[in-house]
Amino acid sequence: MRVVAVTGSASGIAAGIRVWWERDGQRVSGVDRRGAEVVADLATSSGRAAAIAAVDSACGGRLDGLVVCAGVGPHVADPALIVSLNYFGAQQLLDGLRPALARGTQPAAVAISSNSSSLANADSPLVDACLAGDEAEARRIAVSLTGQPIIYAGSKLALTRWVRRQAASPAWAAAGIRLNAVAPGPIQTPLLQGGLDDPRYGPAIRGFPVPTGGFGAPADVAAAVAFLLGPEARFCCGSVLFVDGGTDALLRPDQY
Ligand code: NAI
Repeated sequence: MRVVAVTGSASGIAAGIRVWWERDGQRVSGVDRRGAEVVADLATSSGRAAAIAAVDSACGGRLDGLVVCAGVGPHVADPALIVSLNYFGAQQLLDGLRPALARGTQPAAVAISSNSSSLANADSPLVDACLAGDEAEARRIAVSLTGQPIIYAGSKLALTRWVRRQAASPAWAAAGIRLNAVAPGPIQTPLLQGGLDDPRYGPAIRGFPVPTGGFGAPADVAAAVAFLLGPEARFCCGSVLFVDGGTDALLRPDQY
């Protein structure tokens, strides 16, 4: 039985990942601010530290899989929360649980990014501040960009870049831990519904082209995550797997 941890497990995509793993008979340690084995606020450094310690203790210091999925959408009222949770809440959990992963069996980790990370305007000083580990500066920039979707896209671009930079490094690949990312498009969850219900974002989300049509389901992302965490993906390292109905291919056919 593999021992795996997933953040954001109480809802949406991560809840779908949890169902998938439990069906496979794996032992799941969920982390969320509510309704999980480990209850912690991943938007704060103390909450992240507590979550890392609790997961480490629950798995006896040996973790086989980790998915960092907890996040908020672009429509939330607090712009600083977007970078603190979506980037730092994910990056610090990956970093803090890496030693436990290194002691696991065929260990692998997946970060849940977004296909918005590849949008043309996602790159900004906010991305640089995240990658520099400067949370105070990233939060300051986010507040200065209040109301702009670039905050969310930037938090996900930074996370994707961090994954790409770390995956092939001695700390990850050479330690036997595979690190990859999944970039979903619109997936029917409470987060997406929040965006659809927001008059600032709803029309744009509905108007976004999805070549296969419609929205995805949490199970569509869970299937991709299960593949990347499993032994069949033993040669996947630093990959970004788009699960977005073809939107990225449509908008950026020549960039990859
Ligand atoms: P969701 O809202 O259904 O679930 C998010 C989970 O994160 C919830 O269980 C919530 O309690 C938890 N959470 C929120 N704040 C937290 C905090 N401070 N500390 C700990 N846990 C916290 O959202 P969904 O849609 O499942 O999103 C999951 C991830 O997928 C997010 O990172 C999101 O950015 C990403 N994503 C979602 C897409 C979508 O269309 N639903 C598209 C692309 C990416």
